[in-house]
Amino acid sequence: MSLNREQMLVEMGISPIWVLRDAPAVEFDVAHQIQEAAQPVPSAAAVAEAAPLPVQHVYQKSEPSSPATLDVGALDWPALARQVAGCRACSLCEQRKQAVLGVGDTSPDYLFIGEGPGADEDAKGEPFVGQAGKLLDSMLAALDIARGNRVYIANAVKCRPPGNRTPEPAEMAACWPYLERQIALLKPKIIVLLGKAAVHAVLHDDKSLASLRGRRFDHAGIPVVVTYHPAYLLRNLPDKAKAWEDLLFARRTLREQTTPELPF
Ligand code: URA
Repeated sequence: MSLNREQMLVEMGISPIWVLRDAPAVEFDVAHQIQEAAQPVPSAAAVAEAAPLPVQHVYQKSEPSSPATLDVGALDWPALARQVAGCRACSLCEQRKQAVLGVGDTSPDYLFIGEGPGADEDAKGEPFVGQAGKLLDSMLAALDIARGNRVYIANAVKCRPPGNRTPEPAEMAACWPYLERQIALLKPKIIVLLGKAAVHAVLHDDKSLASLRGRRFDHAGIPVVVTYHPAYLLRNLPDKAKAWEDLLFARRTLREQTTPELPF
């Protein structure tokens, strides 16, 4: 069953509907329709299965290797996916079923970054497919976007932390070159950080989310905004309204730095 935007907002627990006072008349969808259809990026596991790792990407050691060995700045998508699938840069590799690279439009407007795969994501090889993912999908739908359409979704770490614990700073640091390369390849128009781990990974900031919300940060010239993690929102329902404010702020920030193309 597909829900309309109003139903999505109700699903998010937001009612009455909040609207932008300064909403421009031209929706971004108009500009987006003329973009080429994005090529989906295969999962890390699918790529690894289809194409064996080239010699330089095969990790022979049974022990995790040093993060200092990661040099991914020149990799294209298939090579990056292969390297992530075989990564042993930190101990999270030891208990994962598979590494989870990310999913979505590879020429996105929005890049959403979460914390790390949970059990469902570890099993499926796709980020945000569990309960938190359902809420994230509702949040995206409230913005009239969807996974794979103007949005790419990734995580601060690619491998499931055991017991769904928060990733350690060293694990996020080990995984950062992959995320940094993804950002460089994706060139999103805005990055939305979901929760404290994503903030730590990208902005290297450990302040409270409350103090970071509603502000525009920057990564490599790309605007970055902060909001609550969907799993937190599932436990703290009243904060869904704040998350909706944050999404509107993200959309406003995106629109401020983009000139919509008119259809004539
Ligand atoms: N939580 C996250 O941060 N990422 C996922 O992929 C799933 C749940």
